[in-house]
Amino acid sequence: MSRTYVITGAASGIGKATATLLTERGHRVIGVDLRGTDIDADLATADGRETMVAKVSELSGGTIDAIIANAGLLAPTATTVAVNFFGTVATLEGLRPLLAGSSAPRAVATASMASLFPPDAALLDLLLAGDEPGALARGAELEAAGGDTASRIYGTTKQALARWIRRNAATAEWAGAGVPLNGVAPGIVLTPMTAELTGSDDARKAVLDTVPMPLNGMFEPRDVAYLLTWLTSEENAHLCGQIVFIDGGSDAVIRGDSTW
Ligand SMILES: NC(=O)c1ccc[n+]([C@@H]2O[C@H](COP(=O)([O-])OP(=O)(O)OC[C@H]3O[C@@H](n4cnc5c(N)ncnc54)[C@H](O)[C@@H]3O)[C@@H](O)[C@H]2O)c1
Repeated sequence: MSRTYVITGAASGIGKATATLLTERGHRVIGVDLRGTDIDADLATADGRETMVAKVSELSGGTIDAIIANAGLLAPTATTVAVNFFGTVATLEGLRPLLAGSSAPRAVATASMASLFPPDAALLDLLLAGDEPGALARGAELEAAGGDTASRIYGTTKQALARWIRRNAATAEWAGAGVPLNGVAPGIVLTPMTAELTGSDDARKAVLDTVPMPLNGMFEPRDVAYLLTWLTSEENAHLCGQIVFIDGGSDAVIRGDSTW
């Protein structure tokens, strides 16, 4: 049966590959991105988030079957705080009412294996408290510091997102409404986001020293698309609050059997 999917970040990389796969399988995709797909919206801003919800409502006629909240930034900037955490949560919460009319509603967000890296504790607390002005101010401080300090922004936003999913998936709004809410945590995927990190043998070696991927190494965005499409398919009725690491083994190497 054809279903309607909303995908953010649909103009590039993992989001684009997922849109392509779902379209090939006969589903309808409503893409959201800064530009280049169905709805232009800047998810770093309150206006952009409102535009996204209004336009998805209009284009879908009021009912969607799945949300794939995937837009993200790797840049060590405060804008990354706005997009990766608050833009993603606004996507999930803003579009959730449109799932009510679906017979098999599903939601997933794209976190990252970088959620395992040491976070900035102050930023993490502000994100988990849902304090956007405070988190943006802390993000600006980290951005100004530069270097390794600013580099903590990305992993911190992804850890907060994974923890937000864990905290919310089993609540009345999600599980209680029959909506499996889960996340994926990719390792290094070959997309425009990682082009600089993977552009030479030396760069690739340096990345793999930090992100060990013993199972088949770096991979293509379509490999994440297969997982995202399964998590948002009718077949997935019972996964709740799981962060599925699709990372060639980096989680198993880094966390070993401390996590199960
Ligand atoms: N590529 C990787 O190795 C990797 C690993 C782990 C997680 N991820 C996550 O996967 C997701 C997709 O990344 P990708 O690798 O496909 O990158 P990408 O850069 O190819 O695609 C990301 C998309 O998000 C969009 N986006 C960024 N800011 C936005 C905003 N303010 N409003 C609306 N859209 C915005 C971009 O325009 C872009 O089209 C991201 O959340 C990223 O953090 C990627």
